[in-house]
Formats: sequence, structure tokens, C-alpha cells
Amino acid sequence: MNSYQKAEAAEHALMEELEHAVYSPNAEDRIVVKAAIYTSGERDPREPAVNPRQDGKLYIMGPDKRLPKMPDKPTLFDFFRLRFGLGNTQHLMQSARLAQKRGENEKVVLACLLHDIANSAFIRADHGYWSAQLVEPYVDPEVSWAIKYHQALRFFPDESAGYEYPETYKKLFGEDYSPEPFIHQAYHEARDHKWYMSSRLITLNDLYAFDRNVKVELEEFTDIVGRNFKQPKEGLGFDGSPVAHMWRTINWPTRYL
Ligand SMILES: [Fe+2]
Ligand SMILES: [Fe+2]
Repeated sequence: MNSYQKAEAAEHALMEELEHAVYSPNAEDRIVVKAAIYTSGERDPREPAVNPRQDGKLYIMGPDKRLPKMPDKPTLFDFFRLRFGLGNTQHLMQSARLAQKRGENEKVVLACLLHDIANSAFIRADHGYWSAQLVEPYVDPEVSWAIKYHQALRFFPDESAGYEYPETYKKLFGEDYSPEPFIHQAYHEARDHKWYMSSRLITLNDLYAFDRNVKVELEEFTDIVGRNFKQPKEGLGFDGSPVAHMWRTINWPTRYL
């Protein structure tokens, strides 16, 4: 293969890669390519992407300068402060505060604090599953189990526990909405499980909307997190855990590879 053919082959390989990429016009000194998951639906993911190449510009392979810089060894609280949305973190902290006020145990308070962490900085769809997976190596198994199943339990009333089907869901999803079969199945699994109430308590303390007049500070949960979340000394994303890559993706979400 001569050098011209090599260059052609390399270009072809690059174009193949970009089939699943979309150019973001807001890039600064580096080219930002959005993963298919962010754009699938807005565009047919099978369609060839817009060619994002620009002469003399490189692709992002590390931090995105548009985002606040994270410490080298980021903690859970660093992610709360620097990557999660304000509405999301206030929702989580207000839910955890409510659980604490009602005298729930520390595992349940922590589960409330972490139950929706996937939503604002990672992926919304199947948020209970993603949130549970993100924290699984660092918390008691009961905590991640409760977080995983709260997604299904939200759709099923439990009068004996004082949980009704949320009125808001009728507005959001329609009066006749019925969850997918896998959610029904998860509900039945959860009902028969010894940790059912821990997950149910997340739904009972899950606030629909955060009160803008109430400002909860993270420090309120320093002790509970310190006792119940095994913060890796290398930082989340760099500890080689089975979910480290997920934390790295939240930290540096626009890397080309
Ligand atoms: Fe949730
Ligand atoms: Fe929630």
C-alpha cells in the first residue's frame, strides 16, 4: 500500500467511525463529537453523520473546557457540585432530608440521596438502573438494590405503605399510561423481596418538585455519606471498579474515544 492509499484507508476508517457521531457547532479549540445516545431520535442513527472535520482542529480526548474542572481524585460530592444539575441535587437532598426527618435508617437516607443521580449528568432512560449501577461498588447491597427497584415501584401504589400513584404521572405520561412489561416484572420481583420496604421508602420520600425556597447543603449529609459510601482513594473513575468508566464518562463526557 503506498502512502496515498494509506491516507485514503485512514480517512475511510475515520469516516466509518463518524457514522455514529454528530458535530457540535459550539466547540471551542477542539472538535466536539456527540455520542449517538445523545442524538438518536433527533436524527436517524443509521444516517451518515455530518462531517465534523475542521482543518487544524483536534478532537477532545480529555476534559471539556466548557465544563468546570474536576479534581484529579473526584469524590461523590465533587460530582454533586460540578457535574449534577441544581434541580437534581436539590431534589435528591430534599428527599434525603425528608427521609431523615421521618427517622429512616442511614441506608434509606443514603438511598434517597443517590436514587436519581443518573438523571441530570448521565442518562435518564432507565434511571433507577443506571443510578444503582453507578453506586453499587461503594454502598451496601441493600442501598443499590433499593435504588434500582424504585424506578418500577414509582408506578405501583401501595396503600398499606401510604403510597399512591402520583397525580403528576397522569399529567406527564397520560391517564392511560401503563409501564412496559419489564417494569411490571421488576415490580413483582421487588414485592417478594426482603428489601422491598427500603425501595418503597425511596418512593415515599421522593419529592416530585424541589422547593426553590428551600436550599439544602451537601454538608448536611457529610457524616452519613462518610459512614456509608466507600469513597475510593483514587477518586471515582480511577479506582478500576466495574463502574469506573461510567464516572469517567460523566467527568469527561465529550471525549472522542
Ligand atoms: Fe427516580
Ligand atoms: Fe426522585
